[in-house]
Amino acid sequence: MRIPEIQMNTTLSAIRSDFPILSTTVYGKPLVYFDNAATTQKPSAVIDAITGYYSETNSNVHRGVHHLSQQATLAYENARKKIADFVNAASDAEIIFTRGTTESINLVAWSFGEAFVKEGDEILISALEHHSNIVPWQQLCLRKKAVLRVIPVYDNGELDQEAYMKLLNDCTRIVAVNHISNSLGTINPIKGMIRQAHERGIPVLIDGAQGISHGPVDVQELNCDFYTFSAHKMYGPMGIGGLYGKKDWLKQMPPYQCGGEMIEKVTFEETTFNELPYKFEAGTPNVAGAIGFGTAVDYLGNLGWDFIRTRESDLLNYATEKLSQIEGVRIIGTSAQKASILSFLIGNIHFFDAGTIIDQYGIAVRTGNHCTQPLMDRLCLLGTIRASFAFYNTREEIDLLAEAVLKVKELFA
Ligand code: ALA
Repeated sequence: MRIPEIQMNTTLSAIRSDFPILSTTVYGKPLVYFDNAATTQKPSAVIDAITGYYSETNSNVHRGVHHLSQQATLAYENARKKIADFVNAASDAEIIFTRGTTESINLVAWSFGEAFVKEGDEILISALEHHSNIVPWQQLCLRKKAVLRVIPVYDNGELDQEAYMKLLNDCTRIVAVNHISNSLGTINPIKGMIRQAHERGIPVLIDGAQGISHGPVDVQELNCDFYTFSAHKMYGPMGIGGLYGKKDWLKQMPPYQCGGEMIEKVTFEETTFNELPYKFEAGTPNVAGAIGFGTAVDYLGNLGWDFIRTRESDLLNYATEKLSQIEGVRIIGTSAQKASILSFLIGNIHFFDAGTIIDQYGIAVRTGNHCTQPLMDRLCLLGTIRASFAFYNTREEIDLLAEAVLKVKELFA
């Protein structure tokens, strides 16, 4: 769907005004925020929801009989329902609130690993993974004397699907791959990958940290066993996120952390555990975060995926074209299916130097290895400059980035 230019501009300026930070300045220049893959900005609705909770409803959830506690519990569980609907989970009990993607992956790696992984088993990840989808599995392999296998990646950032099929075998206990690469923007063909793993009876965890904000995620349609995400990359607050897990798996997995809330009955001799999802939510949860997260999901729902996807693909195409026209700029990651994440290098100029100069123009880009050191090793790079776009960014902002890149070149000429 192509949104007519005029309508888009009007809508866009209204949308930008929903995000207070977008009208601030950096070094006296209007902020150009292109670090959305690291964290997205927050609309007033989310900020107000958090303030509103602390101003009017703050109380601990579950178990309290008093009015405030009941209100807070309702709001917290309502947020869970919103997230469940957002990813089309079959039941709210399949959504566990965590601190974010990293904790969600650690939860599965520890708890699934405890129940199902033994010596000689294999865990299959990919060369495109963020450290948070490598290290928890690596540590599990160390504990269990299991073996970490890696799906190779082509130079353009696409995973080698033939190698993937060959790597799946009777020893593979779980596949853990990302939906979208945070470094290169590659959109992985996860539906087919999940199907192929399932044909061999192997469950699949999808690291959805980048995937969930770029398009509708339907966990039932994908048929993934686990899907992990962070609110702060979805225009919601930091410190909260979620794990979707199929009930059948979650029921069989032991608790990840122990404490209040996750128990059914405690004696000094033994403890029985609470039902899902509470079995995996020990201690007082981040209630304000969950409520803010629910509001972020409402906000995205109101915008609609057609709008978000149209905007983001326009920005990616425009930026790719614009930067490619600059002599010496090399785009890193050219897979056929890409999200609005653009990694690049400028000649032999170090990415930190380039990023520091680009910053002087009020433009926030990320520089470094993006927590994907093995991927950078594979590409024989130390890092890249990464511009990641959200629906609130504009072509004019990309023009400013292109001008800043030219300045970088001039300075290092
Ligand atoms: N994982 C985040 C990124 O890619 C922090 O920038």
